[in-house]
Amino acid sequence: MRGPDAGFARDAFLDLPLDQAAHVLHLLWSRFGSRRPDLAYRVLPLTRWAHGTGERDQRATLVAVARTAVKAGLFELTMNPQTRMSVDVFGPLLMELRPKKACESNGQFYTPDDVAELLARFMNSPPQGSAVHESSVGTGALILALADHARAHGVDPADMRWDLVDVDPFATACLAVNVDLWRLGPDVLIGCGDVLVDDWRDRALYERDLGIQIQKWQPLHRFITSSRTYASAV
Ligand SMILES: C[S@@+](CC[C@H](N)C(=O)[O-])C[C@H]1O[C@@H](n2cnc3c(N)ncnc32)[C@H](O)[C@@H]1O
Repeated sequence: MRGPDAGFARDAFLDLPLDQAAHVLHLLWSRFGSRRPDLAYRVLPLTRWAHGTGERDQRATLVAVARTAVKAGLFELTMNPQTRMSVDVFGPLLMELRPKKACESNGQFYTPDDVAELLARFMNSPPQGSAVHESSVGTGALILALADHARAHGVDPADMRWDLVDVDPFATACLAVNVDLWRLGPDVLIGCGDVLVDDWRDRALYERDLGIQIQKWQPLHRFITSSRTYASAV
């Protein structure tokens, strides 16, 4: 089923000339960073392409990828309130794009959604306000199934705490977008590190706070860098 404005958004995006499409992608990521400063650091492996679009070749590649995703039905999935909360767009995509050898070296074979759903059904529903920890989370297939399972039992995943880590920066970047699409709430900590050797948690807390602090001080930064003449900040 299509979301209310998905068809319109699709056609409008596909009609944009290259530079405007690149600008829209830049704006979309900026907006994501303002809405979710806690996740802004985590999505950097994805957003840096949209922010550094000075070179025409890079802009053209970025827009070609986005147009392909939009043509394949991205907006139909993500603008529909039902499907946006129940689908992992990134997991299958990452597995498809990665060379097989790279997947094998870290065991990066994500759980298919029907298997994840089956596994979640065998678990007790998490109680209201509980914490979930997953230390090889990938793009989140298992936690999506768990969140669905919780909702089916009247528990809102947005009231839970999510402690998630994976060694792969692209997987954790995709996961950061997913937790927002899936409405897992504000209490999400996503770390990127090797759980066997890293002190990933302190770093993840620092990185989460960095995004929040940067957003908090942005108005002051804009004020300082844009005022031509002195004006009181008060
Ligand atoms: C088999 S996948 C499972 C992913 C996800 N839990 C799922 O079911 O779809 C294993 C994941 O563990 C991650 N991983 C492997 N070694 C790790 C390590 N030492 N520390 C953190 N993550 C690791 C990989 O990057 C990969 O995403």
